[in-house]
Amino acid sequence: MGRTVTIIPGDGIGPEVMAATLRVLRAAGIALDQDRQLAGLAAIEAARDPLPAATLDAIRRHGVALKGPLTTPVGTGFRSVNVALRQELDLYANIRPAQTIVPGRYDDIDLVLIRENTEGLYVGVEHYIGLGGDRRAAAESVMIVTRYAAERIVRYAFEYAVRERRRKVTLVHKANILKLTQGLFLDVGREIAHDYAGRVAFDEHIIDATAMRLVLDPGYFDVLVTENMFGDILSDEIAGLIGGLGFAAAANVGTDVAIFEAVHGSAPDIAGTGRANPTALILAACLMLDHLDERAVAGRIRGAIHAAHGAVTTSDRGGTATTEQLADAVVAALDAAG
Ligand code: NAI
Ligand code: MG
Repeated sequence: MGRTVTIIPGDGIGPEVMAATLRVLRAAGIALDQDRQLAGLAAIEAARDPLPAATLDAIRRHGVALKGPLTTPVGTGFRSVNVALRQELDLYANIRPAQTIVPGRYDDIDLVLIRENTEGLYVGVEHYIGLGGDRRAAAESVMIVTRYAAERIVRYAFEYAVRERRRKVTLVHKANILKLTQGLFLDVGREIAHDYAGRVAFDEHIIDATAMRLVLDPGYFDVLVTENMFGDILSDEIAGLIGGLGFAAAANVGTDVAIFEAVHGSAPDIAGTGRANPTALILAACLMLDHLDERAVAGRIRGAIHAAHGAVTTSDRGGTATTEQLADAVVAALDAAG
């Protein structure tokens, strides 16, 4: 289709799961032009910069990137590349669809979390408050909620629901305690919901009750939209509902750019052993294909992933299948489906 995407293999297990993913894309008949770029440790080693300008330029130019996990070096003064990308490119929406692939505790999870990715408590505006001789007697952190950011994330959630034919958007909040910040987020949500009345149902849920209900009755939810920190916590809970990090994919979306990735990190404990489950990055590639309007291919790959996990068991699920063997099984299932 002649579309160029930026490919960032990443660190640790990144190059291994990226190779498996690109193999699956080739087998599915998708001809993507790849602009390979470095970020993270690989880029520090090559260019002494975890986020080289060439990488940022490529992402901006092509508008779409598929990214492996990046190691954030601890205690070296290098900032987190994931945070830097989010800020530089204003990737304000984090989207995490969760669908059961391997039946476990639940066999029919199908929900999507949409997280505001730029503000809330995670703006990191913090300071100590001294008292007497104690410079660190207390600490304070500021939660920032703007009408602008609340509107664009809630609107994104409703537009997503319309596009993906979803029935309901649940806004998750804590406005009963945080009357102003969370109250503003909730008020904005209620206003925007009016624009979609009759098309998408709207519902509001308090964060703690949401955490419990996700475990007791996940079928209640469809699309969830929430602020940054609540979304961070809920997204890991939701990954747990579908079998953990090996199966969780995410899209980070801004106005002009979208970056698709696995939720997991570079897994240094298993890097180089060939045991990483590549499913999360393959699912991220499917989200990228949806974004590029290649939905039929994405659907075929998802079907093949289901079939592959029926045939082989990866190590994160207690089996012995390697990264390669899982990719083999996905390719075989694609071939079998014609
Ligand atoms: P991690 O997600 O890399 O690993 C946590 C545990 O899950 C490990 O035991 C690992 O072996 C396992 N695991 C992760 N992905 C797996 C897969 N595909 N198949 C099988 N097992 C898998 O998280 P951790 O250890 O906290 O972070 C390692 C590095 O990754 C750090 O430098 C961190 O900053 C970075 N990181 C990067 C992210 C990104 O680029 N989006 C996200 C999270 C962490
Ligand atoms: Mg998190």
